Amino acid sequence: MLNFLKKFRKAKESSVELIDKIKEIKSREVPEHIAIIMDGNGRWANKRALPRIAGHHEGMKVVRKMTKLSNELGVKALTLYAFSTENWKRPKLEVDYLMKLPEEFLETFLPELIQENVQVRIMGDKTRLPDHTLQAVEQAIQKTKQNDGLVLNFALNYGSRAEIMEAVKTVAAEIEEGSLKSSALDEDMFSKFLMSGSLKDPDLLIRTSGEIRLSNFMLWQLAYTEFWFTDVLWPDFKEEHLVQAIAEYQHRGRRFGGI
Ligand code: FPP
Repeated sequence: MLNFLKKFRKAKESSVELIDKIKEIKSREVPEHIAIIMDGNGRWANKRALPRIAGHHEGMKVVRKMTKLSNELGVKALTLYAFSTENWKRPKLEVDYLMKLPEEFLETFLPELIQENVQVRIMGDKTRLPDHTLQAVEQAIQKTKQNDGLVLNFALNYGSRAEIMEAVKTVAAEIEEGSLKSSALDEDMFSKFLMSGSLKDPDLLIRTSGEIRLSNFMLWQLAYTEFWFTDVLWPDFKEEHLVQAIAEYQHRGRRFGGI
């Protein structure tokens, strides 16, 4: 039996319903790649008269929970929007804290991720990341690169337009030097030049906190993705919400432009 289910069995009775729902979604096709715009940390903290960074800290714990559940469900990749190229505009204290979060997360949970066969990756412009952030992430990537369970992909200093622009420049340079023929270029090949590389396009996108926009996130990769929006703030996001999102996804008819 799933470790996760075992744990829930021991938990309070209200979890019985959740266990049933988990079993139900597991019996159908689970999305292979889920992408999440984790939003609402600041509002969560404001509501409690706490500093915004308290919301980010709470949000980090939710990252752990969603990683565990996704892995148990057999999801192959979970991409999390942790820091956008626009987030540098925030107050220095908040930016500094957000840059410490990956370290804090990995210091605490890397052994667990290794044990659970999770592979850590990042996508984004690494050049502007502080050394301490980059080192922590690179170390996690190294230590988990042999794992073949869930890919936990952090979008860190990520912006989709910049990603597409960089890919276009690389393609143009390769065409110019003669290593690539423009006639050979197609959508599949172009996708490989993006930071998501070989990752399949997300099947399901979740955005929390009631905002209904993409905020420069995976604009190319989300072309045929199913979207699921919720008013729940990220620190309040629970297993039952992910299960609900997946259950609704499973009832959608994906036609990819066909009939
Ligand atoms: C958006 O909420 C959230 C972020 C910019 C940061 C997201 C980061 C985490 C959830 C933690 C990441 C954890 C790891 C391990 C890297 P907001 O601050 O814009 O919220 P608001 O819209 O309510 O102000």
